[in-house]
Amino acid sequence: MHETPSIRIVPSILSSDFSRLGEQVAAVEAAGADWIHVDVMDGRFVPNITVGPVIVAAVKKVTRLPIDVHLMILEPERYVDVFAAAGADSLSVHVEASVHLARTLQHIRGLGKKAGVALNPHTPEDSIRYVLDLVDLVLVMSVNPGFSGQTFMPEVLPKIESVRRMIDVTGKDIELQVDGGVASGTARLVVRAGARVLVAGAAVYGRSDVGAAIRDLRSDAALGLATKPGDSGR
Ligand code: DX5
Ligand code: ZN
Repeated sequence: MHETPSIRIVPSILSSDFSRLGEQVAAVEAAGADWIHVDVMDGRFVPNITVGPVIVAAVKKVTRLPIDVHLMILEPERYVDVFAAAGADSLSVHVEASVHLARTLQHIRGLGKKAGVALNPHTPEDSIRYVLDLVDLVLVMSVNPGFSGQTFMPEVLPKIESVRRMIDVTGKDIELQVDGGVASGTARLVVRAGARVLVAGAAVYGRSDVGAAIRDLRSDAALGLATKPGDSGR
């Protein structure tokens, strides 16, 4: 897809002001965001309840950016059709939440959407080995899912490196996304480990100038492209 490794910055609306959601989405689009990340939580898979397909449809109306839906719900297979119909461009399901993961991923692809598989911080990368040929995206969580504004967990860095190697072996164009506590200072670490798609909630919407926030994330991520895992400075 890209000749040179490019970084995608993907703001999570979970940290935005929902009373002004349209403006908040437009602001990050104008500031050069690549995708919009929507966090769907059911109060069962994670200890929080957020939004459903109605909000995905509302976001779709106000942006031309791809909408990246992160399903933190049990039995996500029951809901992928409605989120696809609402306007999701990619749908990520957690490996811990779907018993027939392969079938769910195939179903998402059958809907013409990008299929993503997500891993909690303590879930080993081996759990996705046999579904890698069914995915367009791997999402590695770097916080325990449920809330924005949590602290990045550096212990996931070796897992990001390992998933990078697994993806490279396939030779396929599979996106490697990291979500949780990504900010200036940690963006370089996840990029150095091999991530190219960075979700950021608090680091974008926690600042009054979202343009400056996205620029700062890009320049921090670029530092990670310049070095390899194991280089000093981690
Ligand atoms: C957490 C969500 C994240 C969250 C990221 O469960 O999946 O997408 O919004 O927020 P920050 O970047 O603040 O950790
Ligand atoms: Zn998320």
